[in-house]
Amino acid sequence: MNPLLEIRGLQTAYGPSQVLFDVHLEILPGQVATLLGRNGMGKTTTVRSIMGLTPPRAGQIRFAGARIDGLPPEQIAARGIALVPEGRQIFPNLTVKENLVAFAANRNQSPNPWTLSRIYALFPRLKERQHHLGYQLSGGEQQMLAIGRALMTNPRLLILDEATEGLAPLLRQEIWRALRLLKESGQTILVIDKYIERLIALADQHTILERGRVVWQGDSQALRHQPEVWKRYLSV
Ligand SMILES: Nc1ncnc2c1ncn2[C@@H]1O[C@H](COP(=O)(O)OP(=O)(O)OP(=O)(O)O)[C@@H](O)[C@H]1O
Ligand SMILES: [Mg+2]
Repeated sequence: MNPLLEIRGLQTAYGPSQVLFDVHLEILPGQVATLLGRNGMGKTTTVRSIMGLTPPRAGQIRFAGARIDGLPPEQIAARGIALVPEGRQIFPNLTVKENLVAFAANRNQSPNPWTLSRIYALFPRLKERQHHLGYQLSGGEQQMLAIGRALMTNPRLLILDEATEGLAPLLRQEIWRALRLLKESGQTILVIDKYIERLIALADQHTILERGRVVWQGDSQALRHQPEVWKRYLSV
């Protein structure tokens, strides 16, 4: 099977300060992959590079076989990559329903496209809140809305950057439950999060970054049995 996403030799800088040095990663269709690492190690920058928000300085990024590095962000998104960014960034002055339909699209002809009712089935709280404005939602509801909005673009790859950050445990559970359902439905996902045990249960493969370099890559089985790796590279 060909990878849906393939990153090789990725180098990215903010002005004069280089933060990614040689990031590589492959995600097969239907896989859930994680990006792990302590604060400031380059996880968000990797995602920004994929999306074209901070274009890479060197290296190659292929999506569904075609180079996307160098394309503008809107063209990368149009090929079927949706980002749920750190800090959610929903529209505060649109209702839940308006947020969901604002960018709805099915550019890649998904055979079973997302609809409002499917989103509401995944996150029943959003249905209850559908006429509330974005700013009236709790943090967890905003996060569900950010995920729902990303799904409404029918992404081939869904990227979540710290989707459970700062959420109460019950709301966090709801996000994990939704991610499990998405995985079961065949959605390809790249997830950044800090809950290593949850990620081991959910994901197929893991990439650990340390100061902009890949220091460990492997599957959940391997990560589960190497607690020394957690201690060394993750804050656990
Ligand atoms: N806009 C920016 N300008 C300059 N440096 C930046 C910028 N954004 C991030 N950095 C730096 O790049 C490095 C990697 O940051 P990045 O946000 O990718 O880390 P991260 O792994 O996502 O961390 P966290 O877990 O805190 O979200 C850090 O040293 C950070 O200070
Ligand atoms: Mg980050």
